[in-house]
Amino acid sequence: MHVEGDLDLDQTLYTEEQIVTRLKEMETQIQTDYEGKYLLLVGVLKGAVMVMADLARSLDRHVEMDWMAVSSYGSGTQSSGVVRILKDLDTDLNDRHVLIVEDIIDTGLTLSWLITNLRSRGPASVEIATLLRKPEAQRMDVEVKYVGFDIPNAFVVGYGLDYNERYRNLRCIGTLSPHVYS
Ligand code: IMP
Repeated sequence: MHVEGDLDLDQTLYTEEQIVTRLKEMETQIQTDYEGKYLLLVGVLKGAVMVMADLARSLDRHVEMDWMAVSSYGSGTQSSGVVRILKDLDTDLNDRHVLIVEDIIDTGLTLSWLITNLRSRGPASVEIATLLRKPEAQRMDVEVKYVGFDIPNAFVVGYGLDYNERYRNLRCIGTLSPHVYS
């Protein structure tokens, strides 16, 4: 099925099928790593909604899900590293195995802050799963245990990712046509 926003894409980077296949591979690894452990998936709103929905449903085991909303941007589109919690978790993290579910890591500043914040709450472990990672994030000190795709340094939309709150509902991931910006 096509939605109106497909027409604004310059290039499709990953089709729905490629995304689902890669998430399934990540799921197999997660399943093995967390065997016999209670797992709490922490999604970062709003971008991670689609990744969380598909990843959680492909796991053949009990998981709990919780959500955080943080804001890392001031006025521009560059991450500032200054993070504000807009919605905190409802779950007590004490002794919990936590897996942060992210849509994309760009500079990694948001995630570095989030990891430090969650680790201060006494969890048994905190790891990260992200569908997409941009080149700059590979230089982060924080280890990202599960990465879907390493992508070039371009602005991408779809599958939860937005430009001005649009395109989150696209089933694929792609770059925007220049006519959208002008
Ligand atoms: P970081 O702190 O630079 O890693 O910023 C991560 C956040 O920036 C993501 O969770 C997204 O909300 C947003 N972001 C970064 N790159 C993109 C992109 O290419 N498309 C859409 N949102 C992006």
